[in-house]
Amino acid sequence: MYSFLSLLFSFAAIAGGLILFRRWRYRRLNLPPGSLGLPFIGETLQLISLYKTDNPEPFMDERMKRYGPIFMTHVFGEATVFSADPDTNRFILANEGKLFEISYPGSISNLLGKHSLLLMKGNLHKRMHSMTMSFASSTILKDHLLADADRLIQLSMDSWSNRVLLLEQAKKITFDLTTKQLMSFDPDEWTESLRKHYVLVIEGFFAIPFTLFSTTYRRAIKARTKVVEALTPVVRERRKRSEIDGERKKDMLGAMLASGDQFSDDEIVDFLLALIVGGYETTSTIMTLAIKFLTDTPLALAQLKEEHDQIRSRSKPGAPLEWADYKSMIFTQCVVNETLRMANIIGGIFRRTTTDININGYTIPKGWKVFASLRAVHLNPDHFKDARTFNPWRWQNKSETTVPGNVYAPFGGGPRLCPGYELARVVLSVFLHRIVTTFSWVPAEEDKLVFFPTTRTQKRLPLIVKRREESSHCI
Ligand code: HEM
Repeated sequence: MYSFLSLLFSFAAIAGGLILFRRWRYRRLNLPPGSLGLPFIGETLQLISLYKTDNPEPFMDERMKRYGPIFMTHVFGEATVFSADPDTNRFILANEGKLFEISYPGSISNLLGKHSLLLMKGNLHKRMHSMTMSFASSTILKDHLLADADRLIQLSMDSWSNRVLLLEQAKKITFDLTTKQLMSFDPDEWTESLRKHYVLVIEGFFAIPFTLFSTTYRRAIKARTKVVEALTPVVRERRKRSEIDGERKKDMLGAMLASGDQFSDDEIVDFLLALIVGGYETTSTIMTLAIKFLTDTPLALAQLKEEHDQIRSRSKPGAPLEWADYKSMIFTQCVVNETLRMANIIGGIFRRTTTDININGYTIPKGWKVFASLRAVHLNPDHFKDARTFNPWRWQNKSETTVPGNVYAPFGGGPRLCPGYELARVVLSVFLHRIVTTFSWVPAEEDKLVFFPTTRTQKRLPLIVKRREESSHCI
């Protein structure tokens, strides 16, 4: 009993000493303004409860008013400096790998696999990032990705009738497209079963990361094993064929097998899985949100329809979209920009400092987290007039079209700039083309935007759709 009490006392003394040392150190450092909140939980509960409102940025708004665009807080177990300052955000993103580095919890790495691009660092990251960029570049988009996207989007829309849950449809389209791009698979039962496992993996990202307590996380880990079991034979077979017959398909898997890096099967599987993660939720959510904003803004929808009807009127009936058609979608790009500005699913980017850093006269200690909020900048009236209104026409103004890259950065920046940014724009434009030229729709139920833990519509956007030739009274 005595030794237990003395152990307890020693622990308390060490913990107390550490807290005092931390306070003394923080007082000497010139930390950004803000509050670290309660011990251990910090301001996490305030953050979660504030996001239950309709306001897209309540936590940032409240603190920016009090402290300015750079402030400190303590959320999800760690002291974190939040930035809604465009120059600071650019500094954080540009110095990835030097003053800052990515920092994902171990639970995410268990789900993604340690060879994923999102978790790679250093030279290997640089090489693989540029290989991925070249795989979604405009040359490849022009060469075959645009045509693949057009064909798969139409194929998926062929089955739409009466009521559709738009987010679910958008997810299926995005997944089918990604498996085509990565492994040259057309949608079939195998890809659909892969998608079902994969959806469970994604659910694990938002679960409590303990297999003992969380069924969702446990299920996600099992589903990851199933995805790996499904992809490994595909990689093995393709490797065999490329070694024996010299086969080289024009997809990501082909590029990895042909690269001089001699990747193992496990490395390739992790890498492919993470690419699906990067594009799946993001692109499908943006497709859904674009339709939500357009449905709520009939003038914009009418103008978009006119642009796409004109493209159709220039082509033969049933003709596929050409690169020149894509390049003529001027108003569409305004809609895409504005949707990404208003409701980017990636609201901001976490990094960890690798050394003490001086920003705007403040010190951010080594090992602290920083959060570069992209959305808080996008929604700031100092940078965009009537910032919280969906107004695609703003992108026709000179002031907005020349907006600096640090102010408008839906795809991030620096060494981890989203490698799928061009692909996402093309896919979204083709999707808008096919939906507005094929269908009219009305909302099947009231639905609204929610922003936490990710941006989405609450009910996955249920719509009643009608083929345009059949309908005369929908929007
Ligand atoms: C509207 C759609 C998309 C949005 C808004 C988006 C946004 C972003 C952002 C902000 C980042 C930077 C993350 C960071 O710095 O830590 C990122 C990274 C990434 N994105 Fe996207 N993305 C989209 C579509 C795609 C697509 C279609 C792909 C598929 C190729 C993709 C693959 C990735 C990957 C692999 C990374 C990690 C890059 C790295 O760590 O080097 N994304 N994305």
